Amino acid sequence: MKPWVEGIAPYVPGKSALGSRPVVAKLSSNENPFGASPLAIAAMTAVLGKTHLYPDPASTALREAIGALHGLEPERIICGTGSDELIHLVAGAYAGLGDEVLYVRHGFAVYDIAARRVGATPVIAPDLDYTCDVDAVLAAVTPRTRVVFLANPNNPTGTIIPASEVRRLHAGLPADCVFALDCAYAEFATGEYEDGLQLARDHANVVALRTFSKIYGLAAQRIGWAYAQPALIEALHRIRAPFNVPTTGQAGAVAALADQAFITMVREHTLHWRTWLAGEIAALGNAGLRAIPSAANFVLVEFPESGPCTAAAANEALLADGIIARYLAVQAMPRCIRISIGTEAETRAAAASLRAFVERAA
Ligand SMILES: Cc1ncc(COP(=O)(O)O)c(C=O)c1O
Repeated sequence: MKPWVEGIAPYVPGKSALGSRPVVAKLSSNENPFGASPLAIAAMTAVLGKTHLYPDPASTALREAIGALHGLEPERIICGTGSDELIHLVAGAYAGLGDEVLYVRHGFAVYDIAARRVGATPVIAPDLDYTCDVDAVLAAVTPRTRVVFLANPNNPTGTIIPASEVRRLHAGLPADCVFALDCAYAEFATGEYEDGLQLARDHANVVALRTFSKIYGLAAQRIGWAYAQPALIEALHRIRAPFNVPTTGQAGAVAALADQAFITMVREHTLHWRTWLAGEIAALGNAGLRAIPSAANFVLVEFPESGPCTAAAANEALLADGIIARYLAVQAMPRCIRISIGTEAETRAAAASLRAFVERAA
């Protein structure tokens, strides 16, 4: 094994089962509790008979549909096996041994793997209360920085920085440093927010990353896309897998894009129950619980470092009630649990379980 591969801590996915016990709510991976649009399911079912044929290697219809919805040039779009593949492609095309890949503390876990995989050195900029600190990121840039990854909204924190801050960060980067703006949760963002597509249109060193795994409910199909100027897209094409998005995924995503009423429904549901859940956590503030303000489809809850109401104890209580959330000790956040917004019943069950835990501990 190459020494830089040996340095990679394997990605630990969210739990999905509880052994023999029934799962009341799986809120560990920021999935869509409504599944995908029925139109997407029908479109995928319709192409199952073509499963012996390789998919369209260029994801042509899908790129055209994305372009039509977002007002983008299809030739400046590349589709990937989830945006995970695209993160790896950006690191692979622009960084290597001796280079640095920069991101914020508590950034998305795959950035570290993508950097190390190509032999680059991951550099972590300090955050400000779980939020990107643009000054700290800019201060961490060196002549060896080749890629800066920023998830906005960020996972696992749910925090965002406003459009003006994203632009200030970009303006402070050297032109030979790629700014990868990961907007996997763009559809859930509120406030002064910009999804990065315009920035990627205007600047040769910006790539915007998106996914069908979250609001579109197609996580099992593994479809992501990136938008950038032609030279950057061409670099990613050189190293991608030839048939990287399955036929079912391409067909499902095209149909899903056409059902924006479904997307609006999911968004409104998520924003409503996100606010509700944050309020429920705030009501447990006396026990030291805190909801980090979220612009995504989950809420990060911070617990006291010690005493009866730690995150580790809360996680055990949630699991005992059949609720699988994401305890973030594996991501160096032992005080935090991330709870995805589920259906109303699932979200209420998570809040009730936490409340009962706090009351028992008091
Ligand atoms: C910030 C962020 N980027 C990218 C991804 C990868 O998504 P996918 O590979 O399913 O498109 C995720 C998934 O959780 C994420 O949270």
